[in-house]
Amino acid sequence: MDALTRRGFLCAGAAIAALSITPAVAATGVKTLANGKTEIDLKANSALNTVGGVVELDLKKYGKIAVVRTSKSSAGFSVFKLACPHAGVIVKQDGSGGWVCKPPGHGSEFALNGALKVGPASSALKPIKFTLKSQSLTIS
Ligand code: FES
Repeated sequence: MDALTRRGFLCAGAAIAALSITPAVAATGVKTLANGKTEIDLKANSALNTVGGVVELDLKKYGKIAVVRTSKSSAGFSVFKLACPHAGVIVKQDGSGGWVCKPPGHGSEFALNGALKVGPASSALKPIKFTLKSQSLTIS
């Protein structure tokens, strides 16, 4: 493989990697069940069909939360609060597959699945329990 072809190959790979980062969209197909739990229709949220896809919603019990498709596995989801564990500022997607706590926050960074990468926060974004069925995700 000559240098130009190799460069083209690497650029194409970088472009594909960049496309896999999907900006969060508002969740649709959300309903409150009789038991107070929240059910998200997975078919109505096509962003969650792709690894790296994110939907956000605001729940009275938790505030702003994210549902992230973390793997192709049928169980490959993470759900967590978007309030920074340092001082409660809402984190934003950083464009590189993670979350950042921008001002007035203090710069903590988190992985796409909410894991802590850089402080001053000392813990991950708070995970929220959920259960999965084939077509829905239910938040406790
Ligand atoms: S509130 Fe997020 S780093 Fe301080």
